Amino acid sequence: MKGIVLAGGTGTRLYPLTLAVSKQLMPVYDKPMIYYPLSTLMLAGIREILIISTPHDLPRFRDLLGTGEDWGMSFSYAEQARPEGLAQAFVLGADFVGKDTVALILGDNLFYAKGFSHLLQKAAGLTTGGCVFAYQVRDPERYGVVELDAENRVTSIEEKPAKPKTNYAVPGLYFFDNRAIEVSKNLKPSARGELEIVDVIRYYLERGELQAQVLSRGTAWLDTGTHDSLQQAASFIEAVQNRQGLKISSPEEVAYRMGYIDRAKLRELGERVSKSDYGQYLIEVSHEGV
Ligand code: DAU
Repeated sequence: MKGIVLAGGTGTRLYPLTLAVSKQLMPVYDKPMIYYPLSTLMLAGIREILIISTPHDLPRFRDLLGTGEDWGMSFSYAEQARPEGLAQAFVLGADFVGKDTVALILGDNLFYAKGFSHLLQKAAGLTTGGCVFAYQVRDPERYGVVELDAENRVTSIEEKPAKPKTNYAVPGLYFFDNRAIEVSKNLKPSARGELEIVDVIRYYLERGELQAQVLSRGTAWLDTGTHDSLQQAASFIEAVQNRQGLKISSPEEVAYRMGYIDRAKLRELGERVSKSDYGQYLIEVSHEGV
């Protein structure tokens, strides 16, 4: 399976923070925001990832992430000239995905949960159909909203409905078989001028090929869309990390624990930034069990 991180858009709700710097490069406590969705895909077992951003911001992502080799990964990059919809990621990523299955994650979606890696690896193992998640929220009208039957099969999906049928929002993490590419290429822009991800999801739903995994109440799916929610996400990460002494979504640590890099490499990565608490942490992890 290939992975795509969609990290474009204008970030207007975070102005003036995002006037010169991409939203997905903003700090969430001790790391750039994109580290979180990247770690999510890496935990799913995905090693080849395409990062999509604006022509203005893409060079900064390249500066930060490079080829991915240091993390045992392979990163590719593509420009999205204008924010013409989430499903455009599959059109821009068509050559990158080739004949493979594909996971798309939005660059501003943060997850933290017990047993999440297992759930991710199961979803990444799909060979046919689609898989989305459902997460109970107080304000479903801000999201894609699904209705589920008694067996947790999706029976309807709507984007930002004025009158949501349920409180189940669909987080920005989607797993599809290769048909998602063709389906997206054939989509017409919606009334707001975007290629809508819900239309791709609906393709699978209508054929009875859509699974939904309900994320349990112990799951944190954090929002970073406004100044308040960005600050709250940072506070959450700070509180949990400082309590446990473990970092949330450190891609270097994930790469090590997933076996993408060895102990010596992790130590080298830590030493490169050893003046920071982050670097010291990587060095500490590289000493575990020695
Ligand atoms: O976060 C989950 C929600 O994400 C889902 O529940 C919704 O179904 C889905 O439409 C999306 O809703 P948003 O309101 O968050 O969509 P937004 O247009 O703000 O885009 C989400 C992120 O993707 C944002 O950081 C900007 C980026 N983006 C967006 C578009 C439309 C792009 O990089 N390119 C784009 O073309």
